[in-house]
Amino acid sequence: MMTKKLKIGFGCDHGGINLKNKLIEIFKDEYEYVDYGTYTADSVDYPVYAKKVADAVVAGEVDRGIICCGSGIGVSIAANKVKGIRAVVCSDTTSARYSRLHNDANVLCMGERIIGALTAEDICRIWLDTEFEGGRHQRRVDMLNNM
Ligand code: RB5
Repeated sequence: MMTKKLKIGFGCDHGGINLKNKLIEIFKDEYEYVDYGTYTADSVDYPVYAKKVADAVVAGEVDRGIICCGSGIGVSIAANKVKGIRAVVCSDTTSARYSRLHNDANVLCMGERIIGALTAEDICRIWLDTEFEGGRHQRRVDMLNNM
C-alpha cells in the first residue's frame, strides 16, 4: 500500500528561526513543505506565525505543522487556540511518539534555546513516522476537538 507523502507547514519566530531553517534543510527532499515564516532574524510576535501554521493545518493546506520558537512554549499555546489543533511541545522522542499514538497531535513545537538540532531531527522523524492508534483514544481526541 502506498502511503501518502505528508506535507509539512513550518513556522517560527526570531527565537526559533535557526532551528526551523535547519529542519527544512534536513527534510526538504523527504517531504513536501510550506515555510510560513518568519524569514529573518528581526524580532516578531510568535502568535502570528503559530496562527499561520495552525490555520494552514486546519484548512488542509498542509497535513501537519512544525513550529519553533525560543522555548517551544509560546507557539504551542498559540497554536492550541485554533480549533482543531492539537499542538504539543516536545523536547524528547518518547513524548513525540506518544503525542501521535494517543493524542493524534497535528502540530509539533520545539524550542531552539532548549534542544539541539540533532535531538530536534530525531523528534521530528519519530513524530512524522508515528501513526495515531485510534481505538479508545479516538473518543478522547473527539472530546478535545469538541472543546
Ligand atoms: C522570544 O524572545 C521568545 O519569547 C519566544 O521565542 C518564545 O520562547 C516564547 O515562548
